[in-house]
Amino acid sequence: MKVLAFETSCDETSVAIVDDFNVIINLTRQQLIHSEFGGVVPELAAREHIKYIYPLTKKTLEKISLDEIEGIAFTYGPGLASSLLVGIAFGKTIAQAIKKPFIGINHLEGHIFSIFINNKNLKPPFLCLIVSGGHTELVLVEDFLKYRVIGKTLDDAIGEAFDKGAKMLNLGYPGGPIIDKLSKNGNRNFIKFSKVKIKYGKYNFSFSGIKTALKLYLKDKSESFIKEHLSDICASYQEALIDILLEPTMRAIEDFRIEKIAVVAGVSLNSRLREKFREYFKEVYFPLPEFCTDNAGMIGIAGAFRLKLGYRSSFDISAEPNLSLEFI
Ligand code: KG4
Ligand code: ZN
Repeated sequence: MKVLAFETSCDETSVAIVDDFNVIINLTRQQLIHSEFGGVVPELAAREHIKYIYPLTKKTLEKISLDEIEGIAFTYGPGLASSLLVGIAFGKTIAQAIKKPFIGINHLEGHIFSIFINNKNLKPPFLCLIVSGGHTELVLVEDFLKYRVIGKTLDDAIGEAFDKGAKMLNLGYPGGPIIDKLSKNGNRNFIKFSKVKIKYGKYNFSFSGIKTALKLYLKDKSESFIKEHLSDICASYQEALIDILLEPTMRAIEDFRIEKIAVVAGVSLNSRLREKFREYFKEVYFPLPEFCTDNAGMIGIAGAFRLKLGYRSSFDISAEPNLSLEFI
């Protein structure tokens, strides 16, 4: 089934055409406007989506004409309300114009589906660790479309911790890829961060302690010291953040007797995370780089899957900024 899909939940405007689990074209424009503010400015994000969604769609439809499209999918939550509304309004309008069915997709379900683009034979049950700028969740994918969220971050998302750390070091936004790159030549043991203990929930995470520890560490350091040891500081900070993911995930693998684990969303691009997870887990899956950060391809394949099963959204569907995985 050929589906035209839109993703506008945060700061990437993305349009794709998929055919079931195959992504035919996926065009993503990352909004660079936010870098000078060190984080996403919602009002600017919505304006940028409005600016780029039409030209991106037009370009996407050069590959496959609108006559061939059998359904429309768009993200309707979680995310920034004003950004989500752009994709929702655009998607619904096209669906009305071409008289085809449409479906709103949970952004996190999209990230989970991103794993099927390059692993078409992967079948549930498996464990899925979602590591993004807005979320850190450990999900038991019991079956297709059947999710049990068993663990979550109790404070910041891991991507947020990467971005805030980068901001403290004046490295720009988004900070994750910059820290990843600088860490390659750094000493991971340069700063000893103490282990984070979580009181509640066996599979939960917490990143704000490490973030505060970095802040305190940097407080009395000179600019020249930080410059000289930048890669060591990045490598130690990155290592501490990744280590927080390991224990709860290993515990879940044992408790639920599941061998397969998929790690998805923006932070799953991190090279050290990939290395460490391959070391610690027997059967670990990652999406293709293009489908780790926000993209419409993953929304399209989740949309095609649901539309084929008969799922439809009603015309009054609107943005759900706090949509959870278990209420879909
Ligand atoms: O999934 P995503 O595109 O958006 C959300 O749904 O939040 O994730 C964006 C996050 C940002 O925090 C960014 O810094 C992080 O993913 N990220 C990385 C890397 N590439 C992107 N974090 C660590 N290492 C990377 N290589
Ligand atoms: Zn995302």
